[in-house]
Amino acid sequence: VIDIRKLYAETGKFTYDPGFTSTASCDSALTYIDGDEGVLLHRGYPIGQLAEHSSFMEVSYLLLNGELPSSDELSQFSRTITRHTMLHEQLMTFYRGFRRDAHPMAVMCGVVGALSAFYHDSTDISDPVQRMIASHRLIAKMPTIAAMAYKYSVGQPFIYPDNSLSYTGNFLRMTFGVPAEPYVVNPVVERALDRIFILHADHEQNASTSTVRLAGSSGANPFACIAAGIACLWGPAHGGANEAALNMLREIGTPDRIPHYIARAKDKNDPFRLMGFGHRVYKNYDPRATVMQQTVREVFASLNVTDPLFETALQLEEIALNDPYFVEKKLFPNVDFYSGIILSAIGFPTAMFTALFALARTVGWVAQWNEMISDPGQKIGRPRQLYTGPAQRDYLPVDKR
Ligand code: ACO
Repeated sequence: VIDIRKLYAETGKFTYDPGFTSTASCDSALTYIDGDEGVLLHRGYPIGQLAEHSSFMEVSYLLLNGELPSSDELSQFSRTITRHTMLHEQLMTFYRGFRRDAHPMAVMCGVVGALSAFYHDSTDISDPVQRMIASHRLIAKMPTIAAMAYKYSVGQPFIYPDNSLSYTGNFLRMTFGVPAEPYVVNPVVERALDRIFILHADHEQNASTSTVRLAGSSGANPFACIAAGIACLWGPAHGGANEAALNMLREIGTPDRIPHYIARAKDKNDPFRLMGFGHRVYKNYDPRATVMQQTVREVFASLNVTDPLFETALQLEEIALNDPYFVEKKLFPNVDFYSGIILSAIGFPTAMFTALFALARTVGWVAQWNEMISDPGQKIGRPRQLYTGPAQRDYLPVDKR
């Protein structure tokens, strides 16, 4: 019997690295992560500074263009994005084909993929100008698409974009506004959500971004590639974790029940994991979780609300961080641990959480896609495998089997 793994290791034909735990798939100048130190930089700027001082539009410009914009560049970029917020009217018909109780991520996979049927010019990926227009279209339309998915699920009429509002203010109005009634954007909520978008904008070669790059490496159009990214993000081990984390906190309920769930998370015979805990790259506190925890307090103070689940989350974190199992495995809260508490306080239903993640991550996806397509040495992504099936054998007619 040939040990295929040993053979490949000895001949050095290629690397066997399931889950890509130690294989770089590309080079990139966008985002730097030091997982041991808990550092995240976009184009060199620390995520904490961007979350505190910048805006989602500015970070989007930074990721796409490599530098922070001047005041004029930022106004021009924001105007360009604003110009593209509308959806083709025929897409309304498309929405109405979904079941009312469809998950917003299912709707977003479908609608974003369908954009290629509406914007034929953006499917010419050989032209850098068209690539940038496609990127702007995707960034601009994502809030409209996500808000419409929400409106459809609750049986309310769609709200058209109001381009006098900010990117995030406009999204809040399209989601929570009602036709013919004025909607006043709460600036603290707008800022908090904008900050959540910044925290989710990019995270180098995570599963969904790698999916976008792999899909794009074949020359597929950008809408199809982003739809693939949305599909990958949906999984509970990735973007779906924010929904799963809040559901878990609701299931735990009160702090006295935490030890039971900690014991379950440590039990190898129980598939239960602490959702919102652990990360492939961070072996330290996720710097995004720090900002997220602080934002929860700001939103609660502004809305004059509290949520007992926040107390449960804080205590869960403290207990886990002092437990040898979590210490030894370097499992810390990640970006998803606290985000659900804020989104829920703002009024988003749990099913929308991952859709908001997709909205924000679209910027990273298109920036990474542009970077890849612009690279003259770019090749189609084509991982190899270790074959473990039968050796060659002869076909037997059915009466001989
Ligand atoms: N709760 C309990 N144990 C955990 C957890 C957790 N949340 N996460 C990892 N572990 C344990 C595993 O059981 C494993 O133990 P073992 O070595 O004894 O087998 C060890 O820690 C390593 O875990 P892996 O799954 O091998 O680590 P990997 O890097 O593949 O997974 C992941 C990272 C998927 C994020 C994992 O930590 C997890 O499932 N976390 C919960 C889901 C979650 O929060 N996902 C969001 C990630 S952030 C994002 O996508 C934006």
